[in-house]
Amino acid sequence: MWAIGVDLDPAMIEVAAERWPTGEFHVADATALPLDDGSVTGYRADKILHALPEPERAVTEARRVLAKNGRAAPPEPAPIEDARGHGSPSPWWTPTKPE
Ligand SMILES: C[S@@+](CC[C@H](N)C(=O)[O-])C[C@H]1O[C@@H](n2cnc3c(N)ncnc32)[C@H](O)[C@@H]1O
Repeated sequence: MWAIGVDLDPAMIEVAAERWPTGEFHVADATALPLDDGSVTGYRADKILHALPEPERAVTEARRVLAKNGRAAPPEPAPIEDARGHGSPSPWWTPTKPE
């Protein structure tokens, strides 16, 4: 399986490239992927969407790069609205419950 990974943080990309030498990795924004329209068959956003101020932009970008009948999986630590309510850019360690 061929995999392409992106993250804004170069340190994350460095670790990913070490762990998966056959992968392709880019320092890039999830809302502006360095990929052509319809060029991938699968999309996975691991614990990313909750960290974005406008997660819907990343979802739109996922739709752009996915081929017809492509599949997406966005595993998240907590519902995005809960994460926003927490008031932190990274609610991973302390997910909140809605009031
Ligand atoms: C909770 S970490 C998850 C990291 C990794 N995906 C994992 O599953 O271990 C959230 C990551 O989102 C990245 N990030 C934040 N905003 C981003 C953006 N606009 N585009 C790409 N990555 C972003 C951060 O650099 C951080 O590495």
